Amino acid sequence: MSLVAFNNTVLRDGHQSLAATRMTTAQMLPAAPILDELGFAGLETWGGATIDSCLRYLGENPFDRLRALKKAAPKTPQIMLLRGQNIVQYTSFPDDVVEAFVRANAAAGQDIFRIFDALNDTRNLATAIKTVRSCGKHARGEICYTTSPVHTIEAFVKLGVELEKMGCHSIGIKDMSGVIAPRIAYNLVKELKSKVGLPITLHTHDTAGLGAAAYLAAIDAGVDAVETSITPFANGTAQPDTVRMLALLEGHPRCPKFNTAKLQQLREYFTGVYKELEKFTSPANERVDSDTLCYQVPGGMLSNFRNQLKEQGMTDKFEQVMAEIPYVRQCLGWIPLVTPTSQIVGTQSMLNVKFGRWKNFSQPAMDIALGKYGRTPGPIDPQVLKLALEKSGQKQIEGRPADALAPRMAKLREELAAAGLPTNDEACVLHAMFPREFSALYKKPAAPAAAAAPAAAPAKASGPVSRYALTVNGQRTEVTVAELN
Ligand code: CO
Repeated sequence: MSLVAFNNTVLRDGHQSLAATRMTTAQMLPAAPILDELGFAGLETWGGATIDSCLRYLGENPFDRLRALKKAAPKTPQIMLLRGQNIVQYTSFPDDVVEAFVRANAAAGQDIFRIFDALNDTRNLATAIKTVRSCGKHARGEICYTTSPVHTIEAFVKLGVELEKMGCHSIGIKDMSGVIAPRIAYNLVKELKSKVGLPITLHTHDTAGLGAAAYLAAIDAGVDAVETSITPFANGTAQPDTVRMLALLEGHPRCPKFNTAKLQQLREYFTGVYKELEKFTSPANERVDSDTLCYQVPGGMLSNFRNQLKEQGMTDKFEQVMAEIPYVRQCLGWIPLVTPTSQIVGTQSMLNVKFGRWKNFSQPAMDIALGKYGRTPGPIDPQVLKLALEKSGQKQIEGRPADALAPRMAKLREELAAAGLPTNDEACVLHAMFPREFSALYKKPAAPAAAAAPAAAPAKASGPVSRYALTVNGQRTEVTVAELN
């Protein structure tokens, strides 16, 4: 077997997972040429929460970041994480907006697109895959890994075969919560390799202390690439560190060759950056998360959730709410717990414990039952579906959610022109997803990062955290959404 390839995530998932996505382009640029020299198969630099963070907190145009990094690291392919039809937001966008986003991104220098859907509904990936291909770029179809009775190795392999048929150039196993056990990783990679003729990448997080061991097992099973970061933006809730993985692979026939002096130089450089971002970091992010092992619920979701329970005066109900999560997941078709479904399931579990099961049916949970997010992995519980149909007075959607959305690009261009803002595709897609933040970028072009940053970063949050209000039975509930990517 050939040497295993490493992709590096320090410029995206590394700081998203450990420093609330606050690394600035200026902090990245000195490291980019060194990363470029090392022989990583790809550098993940964009997508996930970085676009939101650039606009909301850093006063940066995210496309300018991509161009700058491409110039500073021209040799290594750049990777982005794309949330299928949601692009980098939480709701579905029409096809013409998804297409414009991919085209603008490809033109700005993106090479590899990691495309996923929270429900693993491949219909939500189709437009993105097709457009990436038409731009001559690399489409990596991602399988969101989760544990449930319907998420068997067989089901994941079926998904991999489907992604291959849809035209993906490679397949990714995306374990956003760091819950894949080494033996499962081994079996899944083996099966995928035997049924799919494409390169396979494993992406995990070391949250529960399983990440590095899962990589070792996957490498034994023949995985083509794994994703590593650079300490101190590595391990814990982020990807295992590159030097650590090399040490773990010493003597292994597939161990890749890296210049250790250059890796050391990077570690020193990023140690300085980590200090600069100290207020966005938390020691809790670096500990092995035993909650994840106990409750089988992503760590990032749990820490936010503890705060939410506290605000509701329900701290004593923690165990009860935790026990309710698998029940709610089952009723909602065993959806994976990833942004935004993790928060929807968590909130509904809390409401069930507080008011009685389904006495307060939150709108987002009802939308999942009604098919508005896509096809769920398992069937919706018939009683819960009946309730959702009665309460909403709507029908269940069977088609692809984006089919119900009218094209928007012309309208977006008009709105931008009326506001005196740029009207190119980059502007349109940012305006579609972050209208307020995008126009603020032009009103205050030199907004210093520090001024826009909140006083304290929430512990264990892995990305920008947004809050939205939810009214149930006349009671206002605040819901916190943390990125799990
Ligand atoms: Co990730």
